[in-house]
Amino acid sequence: MRIKILRKSSPDAESYWQEFEYGRKSDQTIAGMLGELNYMGDLKDVEGKEVPRIMWECSCLQGMCGACAMVINGIPALACETFIRDIKGDTITLEPLKKFPVIRDLMVDRSIINENLLKEDAFIEEYKGSDHKEHDHQYMAGKCLKCGLCLEVCPNYNGSKNFYGAAFANDCYLIATRSDIHKKEIKLSFDDHFAAGCSKSLACVDVCPMKIPTLASMAKMNKMR
Ligand code: FES
Repeated sequence: MRIKILRKSSPDAESYWQEFEYGRKSDQTIAGMLGELNYMGDLKDVEGKEVPRIMWECSCLQGMCGACAMVINGIPALACETFIRDIKGDTITLEPLKKFPVIRDLMVDRSIINENLLKEDAFIEEYKGSDHKEHDHQYMAGKCLKCGLCLEVCPNYNGSKNFYGAAFANDCYLIATRSDIHKKEIKLSFDDHFAAGCSKSLACVDVCPMKIPTLASMAKMNKMR
């Protein structure tokens, strides 16, 4: 297989494509393939030139941490959950997420997701036994990995100051239903930084690796007074 990777040596450097050969292994994931390329001896491009190892992020390798989010053949996805058997054709292109600053190669800086939560004091201030009716949805909303895939596909999110996207909306719902102390402020933050900018493309729901029903979080927040 031909593996084409959009590389960048530092945040300020120019991006460039580099190609590698890889013997197709259907049961391998993109994450596994990157591991093999990087660590089966010296890394050489298709012309046989020795090149620096490919920088990318991972932790759990089982779809639980969100670190390995990248764009695979044009589709934002988790590298550890994408199998080579599901790739059509003999070429795989890998690019970093485009809505976040690139640190190096496929590794991006997603700290804006947590910074936005911090700015809006989006945390649970006190323990409050939750309403049983909300348990199922709280469980689902609480699965957010902060991987950034929802922001990558969102037509309204561009990294600018005001619209924070689905990851923020789901956390607003969790906080508003678990904490009375700043429920009102969280509802206002949700209105300002999510509801006012969301055009309901729902691409975030399609791409979410945890299948979080963000539409239900939105509906519950919109009903809240
Ligand atoms: S490495 Fe944790 S989700 Fe892929």
